[in-house]
Amino acid sequence: MTTVGAADAAMPSLFEAAAYCLAADTPDTKVAATAAVAAAFQRNEVAIPEDAPPPEPIGMPGRPPRPRLVHPRDLPHRGLGSSEGMAAFLHAIAHIEFNAIDLAWDAVYRFRGLPRQYYADWVGVAADEARHFTLLRTRLREFGHDYGYFEAHNGLWEMAQKTAHDGLARMALVPRVLEARGLDVTPGMIAKLRQHGDEATVGILEVILREEVAHVAAGSRWYRWFCEREGVDPRARFRELLAEYAGGVLRGPFNIPARTAAGFDSDELAILEAGL
Ligand SMILES: [Fe+2]
Ligand SMILES: [Fe+2]
Repeated sequence: MTTVGAADAAMPSLFEAAAYCLAADTPDTKVAATAAVAAAFQRNEVAIPEDAPPPEPIGMPGRPPRPRLVHPRDLPHRGLGSSEGMAAFLHAIAHIEFNAIDLAWDAVYRFRGLPRQYYADWVGVAADEARHFTLLRTRLREFGHDYGYFEAHNGLWEMAQKTAHDGLARMALVPRVLEARGLDVTPGMIAKLRQHGDEATVGILEVILREEVAHVAAGSRWYRWFCEREGVDPRARFRELLAEYAGGVLRGPFNIPARTAAGFDSDELAILEAGL
């Protein structure tokens, strides 16, 4: 096995490690595996093979039998006024973070032959997402429920499958559309939680919002890197990809300061504001 940098042939491969984290099928094992691989990567104990075979297709990453996955329109809407409603809200966000762990590992696993910094960025994102999931799961347990109790949808992983063939499309549509949506909606959630006096959950969402800006920024950097490598105009391609994969419509209002910090330029923001 040839390796990049200081890694040596006896080390586990990053792609095998990412596959291991993807396959982990309980919340505890996925979180623990993610933290362990991210720490080993930081210590430079994980090799990035230059001659790895092509990635295997992944139908579904490892996940617990619950939550039961349903169509988004079949998810009940509950207000935050009751303890059950708060638990359902926390569960929905915890589910997004659980999926985000797999999305980050899949960005590592699926796209090969890229600069070391690409892998460092997405390993770091996986570790952040595992932490976000744990923060929310812990809070959910304080409301008497655990991850798996409510139903959930599979929209995030479906986008990973649709973009599995193309790193450029993945960077455009997962970090710069799905994760960026979190930047838009989280301030409103924080305001609502504050009205209900739930400062503990507010504190968690503030951490998540801050860290998600960095995830979207990594998506912007690597999206532009792929565009440059392929000699395509990033703005025109972004518009095309939105039309092809996201129905051409992103709903506002947009969190302009957070999106600016996350690498959206003024032309892209103008495109979004104008409804594409
Ligand atoms: Fe997150
Ligand atoms: Fe994220």
